Amino acid sequence: MSQKNTQEYWDTVYKKVDTVLGPTLFVKKVSTYFSPPKHILDVCCGDGKDSLYFATLGYTVTATDISAVALFDNLQKNNLDIERIQSDVRELVLDANIYDVVYSCLGLHYFSWEETKKIFANLVQSLKLDGYICVRVKSIYDADYGKGEKQEGNLFISNRKQRYFFSKEEMEKLFFENNIEIICSEYVEDVLKRFDKTEYTANFVDIIGKKLMNNTLY
Ligand SMILES: C[S@@+](CC[C@H](N)C(=O)[O-])C[C@H]1O[C@@H](n2cnc3c(N)ncnc32)[C@H](O)[C@@H]1O
Repeated sequence: MSQKNTQEYWDTVYKKVDTVLGPTLFVKKVSTYFSPPKHILDVCCGDGKDSLYFATLGYTVTATDISAVALFDNLQKNNLDIERIQSDVRELVLDANIYDVVYSCLGLHYFSWEETKKIFANLVQSLKLDGYICVRVKSIYDADYGKGEKQEGNLFISNRKQRYFFSKEEMEKLFFENNIEIICSEYVEDVLKRFDKTEYTANFVDIIGKKLMNNTLY
C-alpha cells in the first residue's frame, strides 16, 4: 500500500477508538528481560498501550507510527512524556546506536520480504551494542493465513490490508543476518481484543534478541 493509503486506513481505524486498551502480553513478557533506565523505541506503536506501559515502568520512550490520529490524539490523551515521531516505517530516519531497546508489537508484518529486510536493518543500526530487539508478528499458523489475494511468498492482501505471515525460521534468519543473538524465539497463541472490544485468537512469532556487533550490511 502507498504511504498515503496506509495513513488514511489507520487514521480511520484510530478515529473510532475511544479508549487505549491495556498493555499486551508481549510487552509484559519482554519487560522481564531488562530493566530501566533505558531508552526504548516503540515501532508502529499505534495508540501506544505498550509505550504507556514502558513509560509507567520508568523507561524513556520514543513512539513512532504512520497514524497522526494514533500518535497525537489517542496517545496524547494519556499525558505521559513520550516523544513521538510520525513516519512511515519504510522512511523512518534514525540516528545510529541510540536506543537500548527496539520494540515492535504487530507493526512489522505489513511489508514485502525485501521491504522488511530494509526496515529491520535500519532499526538494528539505531540500536546500541548489547541492545535488545523485540518483535511480535503474525505467524503462518494464524487463522488469517492464506485469506485474500496471494502476493509473493507469505504476503496476502485482504480487506484493503497487506500482511506478511512469518515462519519462526524466517524471523530467525533476519536476526541472524543482522548479527542479533536470539534469546527467545517461539510461536505463541494469544487472545486479543479488537478495537470494538470483541476477542479473537491469533498466532504469532515472538522473537527477542541482543545486538552483538554493528551491521556492515546497512
Ligand atoms: C495492529 S496495529 C499495532 C499497534 C500497537 N503496536 C499495538 O500492539 O497495539 C499496527 C500499527 O502499525 C502501524 N503501521 C502500519 N503500516 C505502517 C507503516 N508503513 N509505517 C508506520 N506505521 C505503520 C499502524 O498505524 C498501526 O498503528
